Amino acid sequence: MEESLPALEDPASLLKWYVEQGLDETIGEEAIDRFSLAVQPPAATPSPSVAPTAPTPFRPAAPSPAAAPRAPVPLESPQVVEDARALAAGCATIADLEAAIRSFEGCALKRTAKNTVFADGLPSAPVMIIGEAPGADEDRLGKPFVGVSGQLMDRMMEAIGLARGDGFYITNILFWRPPGNRTPTLAEQAMCLAFTRRHLELVRPKLLILAGGTAAKAVLDTAEGIMRLRGKWTSVRLDDGTEIPTMPTFHPAYLLRTPASKRQSWLDMLAVDKKLKEMNG
Ligand code: URA
Repeated sequence: MEESLPALEDPASLLKWYVEQGLDETIGEEAIDRFSLAVQPPAATPSPSVAPTAPTPFRPAAPSPAAAPRAPVPLESPQVVEDARALAAGCATIADLEAAIRSFEGCALKRTAKNTVFADGLPSAPVMIIGEAPGADEDRLGKPFVGVSGQLMDRMMEAIGLARGDGFYITNILFWRPPGNRTPTLAEQAMCLAFTRRHLELVRPKLLILAGGTAAKAVLDTAEGIMRLRGKWTSVRLDDGTEIPTMPTFHPAYLLRTPASKRQSWLDMLAVDKKLKEMNG
C-alpha cells in the first residue's frame, strides 16, 4: 500500500511520516539530489596520486563471480579511497588498523554516527564474519552485531560450536552507521572496503563468512545477488596469493523477516562446520 506524503501545512504529521520512512536524522541543511550529480570524468593528465581508481576488489576465486562484474563505482572522491588504502596499507597490526580507522575523517558517515564500530571477538578465531554496517544498537554500543540480528547470528554459530570470541571474529564492511540504516552507497563501501581488505589480511582467518548481499557483493566484487551466491563456496585471494575459503550466506536480519529461509542458512552453517573439520584434519 502506498502512503501519500502528508500536507506541508501539517509539519507534525510530515515529521512523523519521515520518521516512519526511516528518515530519522538530518545530515545537512539542504537536500542533495545525487541522481542529478554528474560523475566527474577523469582529468586529462592526472597526477599519479590522484588518478581515479576503482576500489581494488578482493580477488574471488572459483566459482568466479567475475562473470557478473559490478558496474564501475561512481566514486565521489577517488582520492579519499586512495587515502584510505594508503592508510590501511601502512598498518602492521590490527590495533594499528583500528586506530587508523578511528582517526579517519574521509567518510561522511562518521559525522552522523555516535561510535566507530570496528570488530568483536578474537582475531585468532578460525572464522571471520563480515556483515554490512552497524545499526542503531551497534552505533550506540560501539560493537558489531549486538542487536536482535546479531543475537540470531550468535545462536546460529553456537549451533555449530563456534562462540563469538575464540570461535568467530566479526566485523562489517562499514564502520559507521548509515543514517536511518539506509544501504551504504558504493562510494562509502569502496572507502571502507580499503580498510576491510587490510583487516582480512591481518586477521587471516581459516574461513570467511559474508553475511548478506551487500557484504557479499562488495567483498567478491560481483553483481550477482545473495540468492545465487549463498551456499556456494568461493574464495578470496589475498595479496600474497593465500586463498581464504569463503561462504556467502543470508544476513540474519533477512532471516528475521523471512524465517522460511533459515533452513538454507542452516545448510550453509553445516557446510562451514564440515569445511572446518576437514581443514582441522
Ligand atoms: N547488521 C549488520 O550488517 N551489522 C551489524 O553490525 C548489525 C546489523
